[in-house]
Formats: sequence, C-alpha cells, structure tokens
Amino acid sequence: MPQPPRVRPRSRDLSGRCALVTGGSSGLGRAIAMELARRGCGVLATARRADRLDTLVRAATGIHGVAGDLTDPDFRGRLPGMAADRLGGLDIVVAAAGSGAIGAFGAADPGTCARILDIDFLAPADLVRASLPLLRRSADPGIVLVGSILGLHPLPLHGAYCAAKAALRSLAGTLRMELAADQIDVLHVGLGPIESEFWENLLVGRRPAWSQARPMPAERAARAVVDGLIRRRSEVVPGWRAKSFAFAARFMPGLIDAIAARHWRRSDPLASEPPPPQP
Ligand SMILES: NC(=O)c1ccc[n+]([C@@H]2O[C@H](COP(=O)([O-])OP(=O)(O)OC[C@H]3O[C@@H](n4cnc5c(N)ncnc54)[C@H](OP(=O)(O)O)[C@@H]3O)[C@@H](O)[C@H]2O)c1
Repeated sequence: MPQPPRVRPRSRDLSGRCALVTGGSSGLGRAIAMELARRGCGVLATARRADRLDTLVRAATGIHGVAGDLTDPDFRGRLPGMAADRLGGLDIVVAAAGSGAIGAFGAADPGTCARILDIDFLAPADLVRASLPLLRRSADPGIVLVGSILGLHPLPLHGAYCAAKAALRSLAGTLRMELAADQIDVLHVGLGPIESEFWENLLVGRRPAWSQARPMPAERAARAVVDGLIRRRSEVVPGWRAKSFAFAARFMPGLIDAIAARHWRRSDPLASEPPPPQP
C-alpha cells in the first residue's frame, strides 16, 4: 500500500544527518564539508589528494575522508555505500568536485572535452543515481549539484565546461520532478567566481580576466549553499555578481553575447588560437 507523504518541517535540521561531499580537498567542497560539520552533520569527504583530506579530517570533528578519482566509475559507484558504512546512513549528497578548461572549442583536444564532461557532468550524475536507494531510506534526503553561472548562459573559450554545467542544471530540473514523490530535495548551485584552486588546476589554458574581479570567499559561498539546503531552495546563486549574470542570462542574453564577443576578439591569442588548418 502506498505510504502517505511524510510531513517535513519547512526548514531542514542538519544535526545528526550524514552527508557525502565530493571536492572535499579544496575550495567550495572543502568549505561545504566544514560548514556541514559545524552544523552537526557527519561528513564523508572525497577527492584525489589524500594528504589534503587528512588535513580536513583533523580540522573538524565528524569529518571522514576517502581518497579516489571520481572519473573512475567503480569508485564513484561505491562512494554512497562507503558513506553509509562510515556514517551510519546517507541523507545528503553534495557534488562539488569539478574542473575547467579554457580555449577555443575548434582547437580543443577531444580528450580534454571528454574529461570535462566526465568530471563536471557524468560523475555527479552517476553518483546521484548510485545514491538514490540510500537516499530513499533517509528521513529527510537532499541532493546538491554544484553548477556554474556558465551553465545558465555560455561564454566563448569555455565550450565543454559550459555544456557540462548546462547539462548538470538540466539534470537537476529532471531529478527535482522525478524525486518529488520520494521527497528528495534537489538544489542546484549557480556559482560565480570564488576564491579557490579552480583556476590554477585548469586542465588546459589560462585564467581569463573576467574571473579575477574580487572573487567571493569559498566559505561565504558554502554558507549560502548550506542555507539553501536548510531552506529547501531549488536554486542558489551566491553573491550579487553571480546574481547579476543570472539576471542578464534570463532577461538580456543578447547583451552578454555582445560583450563576450567583443572581449573574445581582444582576448589572449593563445587562449583563442584558431583551429589548425585541415588537410
Ligand atoms: N572557482 C570558481 O570560480 C567556480 C565558478 C563556478 C563554478 N565552480 C564550480 O565549483 C565547484 C568547486 O570548484 P572550486 O572552485 O572549489 O575548485 P577547486 O578548489 O579546484 O576544487 C575542485 C575539487 O574537485 C576535486 N576534483 C577535481 N577533479 C577530480 C577527480 N577527477 N576526482 C575527484 N575529485 C576531483 C579536487 O580535488 P583533487 O584535486 O584533490 O582531486 C577539488 O577538491 C566545481 O564544480 C566548479 O566547476 C567554480
């Protein structure tokens, strides 16, 4: 017999909840892991750099770490079970790991494109799918997908990244509808530039000028994300710069295109190198 829907409080109580957080070795993922632990969650944080995870585990109580590469389908498939084993259940999944690459799409190496789509879209998508059986057993489950304002509207030189983040946002919309009956909340984060290692760890290319104007501290963005989770929001866009971009993306997309096209023509010739001539 179908169960009647649970009556849930308007805001989520995080204390005693169990959270799996990807990207826990730096930037937003690390800050979210710390913020969730501060609010009483048990956290399993993951990333490739084990030494960084050890530092995180020592920095707060209630945080565990497991090192691995999310582009390995076997590792990401096992993560939800590992979280449940270590923490005693799984209530919240935060997919914050990601990577970028800069350069004209026509000149891009197809391998780089595939790696960006893997880490920025396929890995979080697979992780969510693998987590669903455990999330369905939770009293108050939630999913957080960390996207980008570039998933709201594309810019030149970020082709694969924009496509991956747009796909991630689209998936968040699908999941929100499909999982409503299970009362699993889905929060998409339209993140703008933050202080992190993102721009130093680009797979290809150099940091563009537009990203350098006073990025937001990762800790502030993390508080906005966790507040969004508590308030059961479906979308969070932290900071006025990111909000302005989101507004323009929705109501003045042509203006973004015009400004971006002008900057692109003047941009670093190496970053926007034309495609090699075809034989
Ligand atoms: N920084 C920005 O301005 C900005 C703007 C918009 C959106 N975002 C998005 O925000 C999220 C967090 O980025 P961030 O700014 O915090 O960057 P970050 O400091 O570079 O953190 C990225 C995290 O992802 C992990 N990661 C990368 N590749 C991985 C892999 N193959 N397997 C496992 N873990 C992997 C990294 O850990 P290891 O290297 O130790 O594996 C690191 O913990 C990303 O999804 C990014 O796309 C960032």
